[in-house]
Amino acid sequence: MIIAVDGPMASGKGTIARALAAKFGLPHMDTGALYRAVAVDVLEAGANPKDAAAAEAAARSLDPDAIDEAKIRSAGAGVAASIVSAHSGVRAALKQLQKDFAHREGGAVLDGRDIGTIICPDADVKLFVTASEEARAWRRHSELVNRGEVIGFDQVLIQLRERDGRDAGRADAPLLKADDAVELDTTDMDVGEAVRAAIAIVERAR
Ligand code: DC
Repeated sequence: MIIAVDGPMASGKGTIARALAAKFGLPHMDTGALYRAVAVDVLEAGANPKDAAAAEAAARSLDPDAIDEAKIRSAGAGVAASIVSAHSGVRAALKQLQKDFAHREGGAVLDGRDIGTIICPDADVKLFVTASEEARAWRRHSELVNRGEVIGFDQVLIQLRERDGRDAGRADAPLLKADDAVELDTTDMDVGEAVRAAIAIVERAR
């Protein structure tokens, strides 16, 4: 069974995808981590995330097994990931490894922006996880503060709006709900409620 979980920043898609993977005994891939790792490599090489050639080279040489979680989770890495992910060359370089992960025997859960539309249009279940801007900004703010980052709520909200605009507005594989995806609005749900609702959607679709 392939489960595709898409949605905007801090919608809860990552938490939901991990919980679905545990519940159904499937491997999980956080595809945003790939774009974040490319962005960190570009920044560490002293290049500009807007430089398509530099970003594509970083994507082609990415080792997905050597991603440093501590480095990729900062707000800066998220912003840069949103910029590098708009380059078609970067998306092309990362496409096959996501498809291979999804189509392994037994299936998988993948979360991202284009899983139900581009990476796995054939997924058995597609979820599109949303939440209000405010709710998402508060979640991401507390996550970053808990990680020790010094950042204000207003700055998180501004970054969120910019990233939503860039992720949904790019020409190649924009953030989009697949026609056959089930939308799950987590605005008024706690983590447990959101996970239970997601499990119910998967069980209904099976
Ligand atoms: O889910 P995230 O916040 O970790 O993703 C970081 C950025 O990576 C996001 O702003 C857009 C990009 N991304 C993408 O373009 N396609 C995906 N499947 C996953 C993430």
